[in-house]
Amino acid sequence: MSDVLLKEKLEGRVGVLTINRPDKMNALNGEVRCALIGALEEFRTDDEVRVVVLTGAGEKAFIAGADIGEFKDAKPTQQYQNMQRGNIYSAMEAFPKPIIAMIHGFCLGGGCELSMACDIRIASDQARIGQPEINLGLIPGGGGTQRLPRLVGEGRAMKMIYTGKMISAEEAGRIGLVDEVVPADELRERTLEIARTIGSKSPIALKAAKESILAARRMPMDQGLQFERAWFSLLFSTHDMDEGVSAFLEKRPAEFTGE
Ligand code: COA
Repeated sequence: MSDVLLKEKLEGRVGVLTINRPDKMNALNGEVRCALIGALEEFRTDDEVRVVVLTGAGEKAFIAGADIGEFKDAKPTQQYQNMQRGNIYSAMEAFPKPIIAMIHGFCLGGGCELSMACDIRIASDQARIGQPEINLGLIPGGGGTQRLPRLVGEGRAMKMIYTGKMISAEEAGRIGLVDEVVPADELRERTLEIARTIGSKSPIALKAAKESILAARRMPMDQGLQFERAWFSLLFSTHDMDEGVSAFLEKRPAEFTGE
């Protein structure tokens, strides 16, 4: 595992990925993108991990965006190929287990986009969030023009993307860009508390929930409802569903095994 990405497994079936370039505000370069894809692949097949937390090292930033140093003199075809090859945003979204972004400090550009490709966003009250690409003569390239309007509405997304201005954590919480805002010194504990709660659930049911929710992005309502019903019915074949129902009826906590 490369030093630019730290990978840990914590109690409660929680995997943590920490982007580790604090002196560069955890900017996303090729090495980080490659390491992220590799780490996700490892966590995907690791039954000891049911939920992943993504964060950035140091006090200052979650992620301050793509590494701008890599843009200088980059050719369009090369840029396009890099983005196709190492598409961390699609990899995050398609990852079959829940991913929580734990956001502190600057969360900009590709950082904001990576957090939006996660399932849940928990932010410190000190976080500053934005899509500043317009200041470089660019637009968001990691899904910002697609995921931001879906989360906060077109007008607010356009305002953020056209002005390039950062917003506060409080505003991000108010408009639905982050799901919870907590005092900075409680961020880690609160995020891990949510992660451990998710980690105690059935991994097959979690996968079914994630796939069904994401299906809504590409399917009309009637097909989405059908997709949900198919998953719901399929879960009746699992040991975990049997265990969940038995545990409820026997008034004891359920022990989900993932079978
Ligand atoms: N890519 C590459 N390096 C970056 C970076 C990025 N996206 N964001 C920050 N850094 C580097 C800085 O170049 C600096 O490196 P140096 O010490 O070797 O000069 C270091 O991180 C610290 O950043 P600095 O700008 O000195 O800190 P600051 O507190 O004054 O400002 C930011 C912090 C995040 C507001 C500012 O760094 C910034 O605007 N970054 C770019 C954000 C951006 O446009 N992201 C979208 C990219 S598409």
